[in-house]
Amino acid sequence: MEKQIKAMREKIEQAAAAIQDSKEMYQLRKQYLDNKSGQISALMKNMRDLAPEERPAFGKIVNELKTWALDFFTSQDARLKAAELEKKNAAEQIDVTMPAAPHSAGALHPNTLIANELIDIFAGMGFTVFEGPEIENDYYNFTALNTPKDHPARDMQDTFYVSPELLLRTQTSAGQIRVMENTKPPIKILSPGKVFRSDDDATHSPMFSQMEGLVVDKGITLCDLQGMLDVFAQNVFGENVKTRLRPSYFPFTEPSVEVDVSCFSCGGCGCRLCKDTGWIEVLGAGMVNRKVLENCGIDPDVYTGFAFGMGIERIAMLKYGIPNIKMLFESDTRVLSQFSE
Ligand code: PHE
Repeated sequence: MEKQIKAMREKIEQAAAAIQDSKEMYQLRKQYLDNKSGQISALMKNMRDLAPEERPAFGKIVNELKTWALDFFTSQDARLKAAELEKKNAAEQIDVTMPAAPHSAGALHPNTLIANELIDIFAGMGFTVFEGPEIENDYYNFTALNTPKDHPARDMQDTFYVSPELLLRTQTSAGQIRVMENTKPPIKILSPGKVFRSDDDATHSPMFSQMEGLVVDKGITLCDLQGMLDVFAQNVFGENVKTRLRPSYFPFTEPSVEVDVSCFSCGGCGCRLCKDTGWIEVLGAGMVNRKVLENCGIDPDVYTGFAFGMGIERIAMLKYGIPNIKMLFESDTRVLSQFSE
């Protein structure tokens, strides 16, 4: 009997020596130690066939074998698991001296660059920034701006309505009203933001950005407007640029003007950019209509004001020579990276 036990021990040791994998070792362990099917457990069952006086001695050596096997497999398992961990760690080693993949830094979008530049210029003249909501009441976007529901000027802008009274603002001019309702003159604000119109071609997009300026005080005239716009134009387009006002129409300004700058590409002699006219239209402006001041509780006999509004994409396209407005919305980094400062 003892021989048989010794042989089993040797068999286990030999089999274990050939195993390099902890899962395989587990299978081997099961082969011997599994309660139901294990070979050592089977030995115990043999006990029934022995004479009663032989049983204690037999039980003892089988138990010893079992204890030995338990210890043996525990140490084998520890050996293999340690080796496996070492192998895994070696495979996962990181070479910290390896150069990292290049990460290109982000840059400000041309729209943001222009908006920041405009805010800088006008902040230098004492303007502060006011931002209104993108979903506006019909009242602030139109009615208070002297454009009641049946007014033909509503056709100038194709509006996205959210409900009969709510719309996506078509112009940052809505901010004028919000400020004038709550502030006593002197007022000097810039209102930048996204605006929306159902309009789509190479120079128009259903969503674009505007920058509105508003000044209200005693004795403000059209000359003040042109003086400030000269500062704006010279800063943005170049020192030698001149401005010119042409009569126009907006319901909320009277008189209204279209503002051109002399062509900064050809200096005014005529080129493709200015379509041989020497001038480029950049924004709309005018003296705040008396009715608009009245709508906001400001006495038009005491105060006057001017307002101007420009498209930020238009300024960016002119300044950077961008041929299609879509390029400003496609997020193609090959295009956008050209404008990083
Ligand atoms: N709100 C006008 C537009 O979107 C621009 C404008 C602003 C004109 C302020 C005059 C005064 O077309």
